[in-house]
Amino acid sequence: MEFAGKLVFITGGGGGIGGGMAAAFAERGARLVLADINLAHAEEEAAKLPGHVDVALLSLDVTSADSWLAARAQVEDRLGPVDILCNNAGVASGFKPLVETTPEEFERVMSINVKGVYNGIAAMAPGMISRRAGHIVNTSSMNGLNPFGTFAVYSASKFAVLGLSDAVRQELAPFGVGVSTLFPGLTRSRMSESSTEGPIARNAAQAAAIRANMMDPLWLGRAVVKAVEANEPYIITHPEYAADTKARFDQILSAFGQPAQPGYRSGSSATAG
Ligand SMILES: NC(=O)c1ccc[n+]([C@@H]2O[C@H](COP(=O)([O-])OP(=O)(O)OC[C@H]3O[C@@H](n4cnc5c(N)ncnc54)[C@H](O)[C@@H]3O)[C@@H](O)[C@H]2O)c1
Repeated sequence: MEFAGKLVFITGGGGGIGGGMAAAFAERGARLVLADINLAHAEEEAAKLPGHVDVALLSLDVTSADSWLAARAQVEDRLGPVDILCNNAGVASGFKPLVETTPEEFERVMSINVKGVYNGIAAMAPGMISRRAGHIVNTSSMNGLNPFGTFAVYSASKFAVLGLSDAVRQELAPFGVGVSTLFPGLTRSRMSESSTEGPIARNAAQAAAIRANMMDPLWLGRAVVKAVEANEPYIITHPEYAADTKARFDQILSAFGQPAQPGYRSGSSATAG
């Protein structure tokens, strides 16, 4: 795929991973929109890009459909249609048992991490469908494949991103629009660095060791570019989690035994509730 001159719209474009995607698409000559609820974050990431890169900054709250409509109108007026949409903005839930999570905390994570992705697709996919071209990248997480205790709300939101992406990939394929899901493991960003200040690290030395182990987001961005080029459904950047993922899927598959009702003949899996 030729990326030169293509318009790439990145939500959470002021974050570590958004900045990595921006730098990687810029390496291939794309034009960029860094959309973020915090414009100072977007400015910070834009300042790291080489001077010749064509980059616009935009204030966007992914949880608001009106904010998306305004963003689309502004971008289409000034820069033309969006070719590649990266629904990447997201927040962590903090490490705490689900029963200690307040309804407001649950709502906030779901609203940004899941509704934000829905809003982005609802705003941008119709144009891609009518142009019979485009690609959407949704950022999930390794927690969207391998959940762990004290991170239930975040995991739930990232599982939702995977389910939504897989389904919408089927819906958009006939129109020549691709959909990929990114599953980052630990990657350097504001979110991951602040999490080392919490209970994930027992002391300063452990926090430093975790930080030293974080992947450089530019390489995630390059993996995203490659996956868009090949229209790959899944983007795995941290293969060290393969064994955990396999163990979980093996356990799920091992639960597929005989039908619960003796003699039952299955119907279509597509309608299974
Ligand atoms: N860093 C990691 O280790 C890691 C691992 C797995 C998944 N992720 C996912 O990667 C994505 C990017 O996170 P990051 O690590 O770069 O974090 P980050 O905190 O550096 O960046 C997130 C950005 O999203 C913006 N944002 C928050 N709420 C928003 C809203 N309502 N509307 C628009 N923008 C909003 C923030 O201002 C911030 O600039 C997230 O979806 C996150 O869940 C990160």
